[in-house]
Amino acid sequence: MAVQRALESARPRSSRLFCDAFAQRFVSRRWRLVLRASRVGVVRRAVEVLYDWVAGPGPRASAVARTRLIDDLVTDALSAGSIGQLVILGAGFDSRAWRLPGLEKVTVFEVDHPATQQVKRQALGGIVGPPAWQVRFVPVDFERDDLGQALGAAGYRDGVPSLFVWEGVTNYLTPPAVDQTLGAVRDLAAPGSLLVFTYVDRAVLAGDDARFPEARRWVEGVRRRGEPWRFGLDPAEVAEFLARRGFGLIGDVSTANAGERYFGPLGRRDQGSALYHVVTASVLAPA
Ligand SMILES: C[S@@+](CC[C@H](N)C(=O)[O-])C[C@H]1O[C@@H](n2cnc3c(N)ncnc32)[C@H](O)[C@@H]1O
Repeated sequence: MAVQRALESARPRSSRLFCDAFAQRFVSRRWRLVLRASRVGVVRRAVEVLYDWVAGPGPRASAVARTRLIDDLVTDALSAGSIGQLVILGAGFDSRAWRLPGLEKVTVFEVDHPATQQVKRQALGGIVGPPAWQVRFVPVDFERDDLGQALGAAGYRDGVPSLFVWEGVTNYLTPPAVDQTLGAVRDLAAPGSLLVFTYVDRAVLAGDDARFPEARRWVEGVRRRGEPWRFGLDPAEVAEFLARRGFGLIGDVSTANAGERYFGPLGRRDQGSALYHVVTASVLAPA
């Protein structure tokens, strides 16, 4: 994700969907050199083509489109004025706490697997002071730990409307861990809270290459890296899936649709994949 966001950020202002100046802190030294060379347009274009040729046509465009879509969802939710806490679940190398406007009065909780969080904190180094003084790091393994307890110990305030962002994570978890995390969010979330999360179409877990020709290389790529996809949803069943867990579906946008929305007006030919989805949900009042 960091490489994909850093590559996007190397584009000229007029053709990029966002600028994540922090992304390059999280990439290897070799990638940093490539990114430096990518300030030259022709090099960047060659790197993008090569990246898509190796990874396949879906991952980069989908990652970029989903990042922008979630940036917009977070910014809109914050600008409405009632959100007091932003909880980033499986934060990884997300840098929204440092780069999005409107967070001055919001406490940010970065929840992540302890191993990833340690790498991030080392890479951020001196940045973890003001202006992001309100960021709290909460190490949690969704497969084992009690999310509610960990957030409570970190100063999460019940009764404050919160925005939960769970981007690029559910696909790596077991179904019980997804359920447990949603249950914890449901219990933590005060009325007016929102949940934004991503999922992959369950069909790709069953090897449905006909509908998603880009899936095979993508699925094999993550498996080879030792992080296989283990969870997915059927888009037709998302509303019911959420309702059974105490959430109301507000919107479900595939990264193909997000790509049309964002790349099209810039005249870019990048295409997000239809297998990746971004969902926005509200917290339902207890029945
Ligand atoms: C692909 S990264 C996405 C990171 C970030 N949300 C983003 O979109 O850039 C997947 C994230 O899920 C986290 N993750 C995977 N399994 C986890 C688990 N069992 N408990 C906690 N976090 C987990 C990883 O640590 C990593 O930060």
